[in-house]
Amino acid sequence: MNITLKVWRQKNGQSKGALETYQINDVSPDSSFLEMMDALNDQIIMKDGSPVVFDHDCREGICGSCSMYINGQPHGPARLVTTCQLHMREFKDGETIYVEPFRAKAFPVIKDLVVDRSALDRIQHAGGYISVNTSGNTQDANAIPIEKEKADKAFDAATCIGCGACVAACKNASASLFMSAKISQYALLPQGQVEAKNRVLAMVKQAEEEGFGPCSNTGACEIECPKGISLENIARMNREYLSASLTSK
Ligand code: SF4
Ligand code: FES
Repeated sequence: MNITLKVWRQKNGQSKGALETYQINDVSPDSSFLEMMDALNDQIIMKDGSPVVFDHDCREGICGSCSMYINGQPHGPARLVTTCQLHMREFKDGETIYVEPFRAKAFPVIKDLVVDRSALDRIQHAGGYISVNTSGNTQDANAIPIEKEKADKAFDAATCIGCGACVAACKNASASLFMSAKISQYALLPQGQVEAKNRVLAMVKQAEEEGFGPCSNTGACEIECPKGISLENIARMNREYLSASLTSK
């Protein structure tokens, strides 16, 4: 395949960025998008240029690092995949592909396609945990029975990899889907009840302080989420928030 790439290049957070055009030929349709970007960087380095900086780690759809906005969609055109799991066969021979960073006020650009997504970590730190007593004997894993349906929903919520695609897809740059997944994974389980009120209040407050917008109700986040996190979690988060606001002193 022969591909024309329009890639966002930006030296740092202070400088103004722009799209630069690159031609890359003989790309295998079976190569991943990141392998194609590696080949582009080899080509740039051979000409003494500065390689395109982009985030990646596991390349298995697990870590949530590979944040690229491809042809106007976070993680590109395929459903339920991260950028590292996207393959070039999703594109046409001769196609022009636009590659940009995830854009949101709370995700400042560090360089080229790399943005700072530590705001999501700070939301998680604000309340996305449970406190357990670790002294004495380890508690049996089955000591607290949990209904199968709730266990499955909690597990589904816990598959959120914190990639930030939901934020990039939202016209309000809202972190609601991410936050709701992190809240739901505990709200559905008995172990999460002790700190439930503080959790939802603290996480929502932190998201506001980080500059994420309110939920736009468009559902774009659910469509672009590589892990299929359901909007049902946002409804649960809103119920948790309302209840905590009305009953907390
Ligand atoms: S909810 Fe989905 S899109 Fe948002 S951070 Fe989690 S995995 Fe990524
Ligand atoms: S590099 Fe880890 S999810 Fe893509």
